[in-house]
Amino acid sequence: MTARILHGVAVAEAVRAEVKRDVEALKARGVTPGLAVVLVGENPASTVYVGRKREAALDAGIEARVVHLPADVPQAKLEQVIEELNADPGVHGMIVQLPLPRHIDARAVLWRIRPEKDVDCLHPMNVGRLTAGDLDGFHPATPAGVLELLLRCGYSPEGMRVTIVGRSNIVGRPLSILLSHNWRGGNATVTLAHTRTRELDAVTAEADILVAASGKPNLVTGDMVKAGAVVVDVGVNRVEDLSAPKGYRLVGDVAFEEVQEVAAAITPVPGGVGPMTVAMLLRNVVKAASGAVKLR
Ligand code: GUN
Repeated sequence: MTARILHGVAVAEAVRAEVKRDVEALKARGVTPGLAVVLVGENPASTVYVGRKREAALDAGIEARVVHLPADVPQAKLEQVIEELNADPGVHGMIVQLPLPRHIDARAVLWRIRPEKDVDCLHPMNVGRLTAGDLDGFHPATPAGVLELLLRCGYSPEGMRVTIVGRSNIVGRPLSILLSHNWRGGNATVTLAHTRTRELDAVTAEADILVAASGKPNLVTGDMVKAGAVVVDVGVNRVEDLSAPKGYRLVGDVAFEEVQEVAAAITPVPGGVGPMTVAMLLRNVVKAASGAVKLR
């Protein structure tokens, strides 16, 4: 059996078309949604991601601005920029691209973002709402993108055993929360595996849906996957390849070639979850601009 490829690019296009319509409706009411992306330093991957987010936002009719700060920006200056964006009525949503340089206290930065503008859903207020099952707030873009991709490809996690490998605050943990709630895309039986998980291969082999989000190339091999499982690869890793034009190529956390022979469906890297993340971020900007995310 060779797995069906779940093309995130096509599904993301459909979501982006919906976002575009929502943006037009907001503009007709006199509101132009605005997104600010704060980029610190010159991390090559971050620079690419930020460029994609900006372009996708502009394409949807969202006003997008990138605030690019030098790698040695002091903590106080970065926090001051956040406060200025907090106060700017044209900015409905903002994100601070991660990772931040080592001298920066990332938590202090993220906690300074006004929760109503926190379209990455990293402020504790929004994480708390999500965890408590108040699903009217923001949903973090990558986990929401994984769910949307699964649902639109006909793979509902409801009642399924889902194993996630990786417990990051951006992907693994919030995805485990989204999957466990009683709502659309939820009602799964979730296992959150990580670096201390014993017998990882036995845990992954139980999964009907396996999500790899560990940041380790080729961590998930064919023998770790149940026949007929759906495999979602969130990893984006640069590995050296001197035959490639740039001297590297992108691979996921899943050994694609061998897992493709075992799984029923699999997401590619690139072109799988990545485009979904961008689309779901835009959806959060629309949510913020429409005033739907209110604090109580
Ligand atoms: N770096 C990698 N993924 C993300 C993301 O979803 N949001 C932010 N802010 N930084 C990231």
